[in-house]
Amino acid sequence: MSRLTIEELTIPASVDDADAGDFVEMTRVRNEIEADTAGSFDLACTPRELLPAWQDTDEPKRLFVARVDDRIVGRAVHEAQTGDEVRSAWLEVEVAPSHRRRGIGAALYDTVAAIAIGEGRTILQAFTLHRADVTGPRLDSPTGYGSVPREDAGARFLLSRGYRLAQVERMSRLTLPAAAAGLPLPSGYSLESWAGATPEHRLADLAVLNAAMSTDPPLGETDWQPELWDEERVRRKDALNETEGRLWLTTAVRHDRSDRLAGFTNLAVPAEPHRPVFQNDTIVLKSHRGHRLGLVVKLANHARLQELAPGHPCIYTWNAEENRHMLEVNERIGFLAVGYPGTWRLDL
Ligand SMILES: CC(C)(COP(=O)(O)OP(=O)(O)OC[C@H]1O[C@@H](n2cnc3c(N)ncnc32)[C@H](O)[C@@H]1OP(=O)(O)O)[C@@H](O)C(=O)NCCC(=O)NCCS
Repeated sequence: MSRLTIEELTIPASVDDADAGDFVEMTRVRNEIEADTAGSFDLACTPRELLPAWQDTDEPKRLFVARVDDRIVGRAVHEAQTGDEVRSAWLEVEVAPSHRRRGIGAALYDTVAAIAIGEGRTILQAFTLHRADVTGPRLDSPTGYGSVPREDAGARFLLSRGYRLAQVERMSRLTLPAAAAGLPLPSGYSLESWAGATPEHRLADLAVLNAAMSTDPPLGETDWQPELWDEERVRRKDALNETEGRLWLTTAVRHDRSDRLAGFTNLAVPAEPHRPVFQNDTIVLKSHRGHRLGLVVKLANHARLQELAPGHPCIYTWNAEENRHMLEVNERIGFLAVGYPGTWRLDL
């Protein structure tokens, strides 16, 4: 008779430490589950790339693993934004395809839901990922944009617990090298690019831009509170990114008259050229919109990628399905939809 245990996983200080074995194994299982859902290992990350998110004190999380006969077969995550006014928690449950429909998902879910309820959270939220080529009945986003297949295991799992869809995103892929050429900047603006940590004199600007990233993109019916960013938090984030072995390429747009940054975009580039690049944040501040700065800055950063780290097969990006401006920019560059992540919520 096989034995199921669920335990909290201790986050190691480094993946090279003697006690990092479970974290390394958890990453392998995570990647396998994601590949089963997404249809490829394109989104897989190394333990070293995954670790910083778990060490980020600004975004605290707890990680649990399910073991059957001492082998990790699933995991669950509890995460909540910091701040007294935060009412919601994010729960994530994943079970290896070989071990599904035996109640392991339910047991993992109960573990992390109990934490959220114990902390007094009144909204529970979760993500699912769905391939773009799934057929069958669909569930529409309450935003009026996008839908997800309602028979997918993740959707059924959440529906059976009373969750409703809060938003649908689009996961898009751009094959490299991209055909789109760079565009000139409108007058009054110029570009600044850097690799790695934010230059000291731009920390304050990046704090403003990162805070805008938490409020400006459409949220649908997702509960998300504005994030607090200052120079120190930008420094902390940069320091974590430095540890993970990917190259972070940033291009920003400077508004020349004020010498302040009006927008930025960044790419996370793995060391191995055969692996995909991830598009992270892209934002143009409200007062500077309507000048095609979003498109120009993205194309400029893609050009930097080809210059500094050529040979990667593609770039992945994620956007709200109702974020028509950003999707238009991405379609113009050549991104194609490959998946639809869903955000779900349960109001207790
Ligand atoms: C969703 C997931 C966690 C379920 O894991 P699991 O171990 O199979 O879950 P359980 O055995 O505890 O099933 C619990 C219930 O979910 C529903 N469910 C799960 N998989 C299902 C499927 N393929 N078809 C129909 N219902 C399903 C059922 O209601 C099931 O109860 P039942 O087996 O008594 O009918 C797993 O399929 C998975 O990892 N999917 C990818 C990640 C994901 O989408 N997570 C959910 C969002 S956080």
